[in-house]
Amino acid sequence: MVRHNGPAGESGGLFFRIPLFCRTFARPVRQAVPGETLMKILIMNGPNLNLLGTREPGIYGTGTMDECLSGLRRRYADLEIDYYQNNVEGLLIDRLQAAMTDGTAGVVLNAGAYTHTSVALHDAIRAMRIPVIETHISNVHTREEFRHRSVIAPACRGVICGFGLDSYRLAVEALRAIAGE
Ligand code: DQA
Repeated sequence: MVRHNGPAGESGGLFFRIPLFCRTFARPVRQAVPGETLMKILIMNGPNLNLLGTREPGIYGTGTMDECLSGLRRRYADLEIDYYQNNVEGLLIDRLQAAMTDGTAGVVLNAGAYTHTSVALHDAIRAMRIPVIETHISNVHTREEFRHRSVIAPACRGVICGFGLDSYRLAVEALRAIAGE
């Protein structure tokens, strides 16, 4: 789990002191040149995460996945970001298997409640050669005890949880860092 030691922002670097309103201009975003293959990543959400925005807003906030995705696509113009949500365990596994052969470089996976129960998802992730980052909006470790255990974590490259919808951005950053290793 990435621990939260202050505002969940970007690392400082060169432009740390540049005021917020300048940052869009300050951050160098590499644009794809015509014909260039972008790094493709897949963001996947499991059951009930189609309800983001209205589902238990005290825990998951009021932001929608559409807003989160358009923010990520704007920010990471050098990535191709696919998105898949399903409430059915087997269909999530089918999509993971498809990601093994469709050029996907890494997966951000919020498996929702299947995180805590699904040996089948664990096995599917273990069969993959690309990195999978387990991701949660809420800090599951501050919640009910049954959420403290992740069945899929041992099969994943890492775990990010507890930063609201910003958890997805942090997971994308993790995939970018892994790709640059
Ligand atoms: C969740 C946490 C899970 O325990 C829960 O079942 C979810 C959402 C999260 O993003 O915080 O559906 O994965």
